[in-house]
Parts: sequence; structure tokens; C-alpha cells
Amino acid sequence: MKKNIVAGNWKMHKSLDEGLKLVSEIATLVKEAPVNEVEIIIVPPFIHLTALNKLLQDNDPIQLGAQNCNEHDSGAYTGEVSAAMLKSSGVVYVIIGHSERRAYFNESDELLAAKINQVLNNGLIPIFCCGEPLSVRESNSQEDFVFTQLTNSLFHLSKESFGKVVIAYEPIWAIGTGVTASAAQAQEMHKAIRNHLASHFGQEAAGNCSILYGGSCKPSNAKELFALNDVDGGLIGGASLNGTDFVDIIRSF
Ligand code: PGA
Repeated sequence: MKKNIVAGNWKMHKSLDEGLKLVSEIATLVKEAPVNEVEIIIVPPFIHLTALNKLLQDNDPIQLGAQNCNEHDSGAYTGEVSAAMLKSSGVVYVIIGHSERRAYFNESDELLAAKINQVLNNGLIPIFCCGEPLSVRESNSQEDFVFTQLTNSLFHLSKESFGKVVIAYEPIWAIGTGVTASAAQAQEMHKAIRNHLASHFGQEAAGNCSILYGGSCKPSNAKELFALNDVDGGLIGGASLNGTDFVDIIRSF
């Protein structure tokens, strides 16, 4: 069954001390007034994962995610991190295909398909990002653009493997800009994504897939977005760097 999920993508922010402080604050706030039926995920830079994993107690309802992984099992790939390493550091989720990785690190749909395989083969859960740039939105071809991303990177999966995948729809024009997709735009795209997934994996599998919204999601708009039929939570950038804002978003369900 699909889950409600709120994931905080820290990107390249926070020193180790700042990261430990932020996670302690979030864990305390969540413990003070437990949040029901929301999977909470913190996605720090790789280097903080082990320390944060030690900090989090078994009873903390917070999971760790990574922002990327390499497409190979292991080998001479200086500077890279494998899915198996992430697994051994307590990671549960891995963001794959964030628009910043696609744009600044030239990650293609085909490369992302290989990364999805790595994540799944190592028993981790991919959060697969898709979303269109402003020029595509302005020419009203956002659906075709996003469908191609989904088809090229996910449609090789078996129905069983697809059942583990989480999707994040993140219109690029809304990321870090303060401009959020309207509720109508978000619902329309999420529904279209679910229908596209259903065309290949079937209604049931598509209905069980969590589809998160990302792009300037904050305490002031999370409630409206999370109430939409096909929005199952959020991938939060900027607002996840502040403990109270992040927990307010979590409490928006
Ligand atoms: P933002 O980032 O919330 O700062 O817009 C979202 C993301 O990039 O995942």
C-alpha cells in the first residue's frame, strides 16, 4: 500500500555539527507529539550518514536516505559511493535522478535506469525524481516530457521491483525558486503520472505507488498539497534545513 512520506533533501548544506543538531531537534519534536502514518526521511550529504545513523535510536521514526549512488557494484571509480556501501551505513532510501544531478552532472535516463537497478538490487528504495523545466511547461508539453523520463528509467522493471519505487514529481521551475506549483497543477501532473504508470504496470501497482511533490514546499502550502488525491507527501529542499519548518510540514497530513 502507498505510504505518506516526507523526505528532507539537505543537498550540499550543513557541517557535521549542524547536521547532528538538526536531526536531534527533529527527533525531539517528533517524539514530543508523535506523527502518525508518515514515513520521515532525512537525506543528508553522504559524509554525515554514519554519524546520523549512530545518533538515531531504534525507536526514532526517522529513516536515512542518500542523495545519489553510483551505477556500478564496486571498482575503480574514485570519489563515488556504491549502493552496497549505503546499505551498510544504515541507509534505506536513495534519491535517483534529482534535476540537479541531471543538469549539473549530465545524468541521462539510461544512466538513471542503471542506478535504479543498483538501488533495488541492494534492497534499498529508490526515490525517482522527474519534472520539467520552465520552457517545457510554457509549451504545455510537461506530460510528454515527464512520461519519457519515467518510461526510459523505470519501464524495464518487473512489476514486483516497481512496487518498491517511490516517485517525486519536481517541476524544475519550482525548485528553490519560492514558486510552488498550484494545487491544480500538482494534482493534474500527479494524476497523469499515475495513469502513465498504470498503462505499463497496471492500476493496482500504480495506485500503490507513493508520488511525492517537490519544489518550494513549505509549512504554508504543504497542507493544501498533501490533501490532493494523488499527492502522497513531499520531497523538501530548503525548508528541510530548519527543524521546526520540517516538522510543521510533516504535521501537514
Ligand atoms: P526546494 O527543493 O524545496 O528547496 O524547492 C526541492 C528539491 O530539490 O528536492
